[in-house]
Amino acid sequence: MTDLKTDNFQRPIISLRISITNRCNIRCFYCHHDGIIPQEYEMTPPEIERISIIAKNIGIRKIRLSGGEPLIRDDIVDIVKKISSLGFQDVSLTTNGTLLEKYALPLKNAGLNRVNVSFDTLKPETYRFITKSNYLEHVQKGIEKAVEVGLYPVKVNMVVMKGLNHQEIWDMFQFCKEKGVILQIIELLEAESCPDSDFFDDYHYDIGIIEEELREKATDIKTRAFMQDRKKYFLEGGEIEVVRPMDNTEFCKNCTRLRITPDGKLKPCLLRNDNLVDLIEPMRHGASDEKLEKLFLEAIKNREPYYGGC
Ligand code: 5AD
Ligand code: SF4
Repeated sequence: MTDLKTDNFQRPIISLRISITNRCNIRCFYCHHDGIIPQEYEMTPPEIERISIIAKNIGIRKIRLSGGEPLIRDDIVDIVKKISSLGFQDVSLTTNGTLLEKYALPLKNAGLNRVNVSFDTLKPETYRFITKSNYLEHVQKGIEKAVEVGLYPVKVNMVVMKGLNHQEIWDMFQFCKEKGVILQIIELLEAESCPDSDFFDDYHYDIGIIEEELREKATDIKTRAFMQDRKKYFLEGGEIEVVRPMDNTEFCKNCTRLRITPDGKLKPCLLRNDNLVDLIEPMRHGASDEKLEKLFLEAIKNREPYYGGC
């Protein structure tokens, strides 16, 4: 196996998150998608495959596909098949779940290991308010199907919002336990691209409050090494993970992930857009594998902890 590359802050680069489209079939008001790009400009399956091969060559072990909504692409199964044939330790996908019932089995057969489903509420009216859509039941069926076909583990990503769904955490936990999935609660992030700039002040909820409660109730707590030191709390026969990037030096210190935006740029940090390295343009203009590897290494060199702490 190729040695891991390490950035200037001794953080190994283990995983790559590739955003394969900016398009989405719902409209979460808090969505932090990176800009708008036309469908014709999206990376093709062979381009995504080539990027994954280069990533593997520089030591990356895990690939996650995200969006927008990755399942909106009609070549998604082909993309997953191409990536999973390369022999990564883990191939996963983040989806809003609306099309998951249809795709869970073909994706599993294509070699996908696991899914995270963005799902914030069990209440139809709250779901409608957040997503401007009525797919709640479709998402629930998608989660069930993912479990049934053996994608494992299935995780529910719940963005916690003050007054909207923060009271629902324990109901969501119950739902997840019943379905055999892990609940991942995520603190709301300010979204640069969001037209409604007040939403952060209106809805941001400090999930430190919930973590305190979890610490008291948990029978066991584990820290996920290399995964931004996320905490996993085990309680009442289930599992809750907590994701808090805001003002969190531990999150940055333990971040081992590189990202690719839907328009094919390497993004060294989740929270910054000013140090991107274009990969797709050089690739489309005939860059060699060596040149593309260099661009990866340049992006890794650009990585700095956003909240200090290293
Ligand atoms: N803050 C926190 N999480 C967000 N997501 C999308 N926008 C935001 C935001 N502003 C979540 C989605 C998805 C995950 C990849 O990021 O719900 O589950
Ligand atoms: Fe954005 Fe994801 Fe919601 Fe789609 S499902 S609007 S990509 S947060």
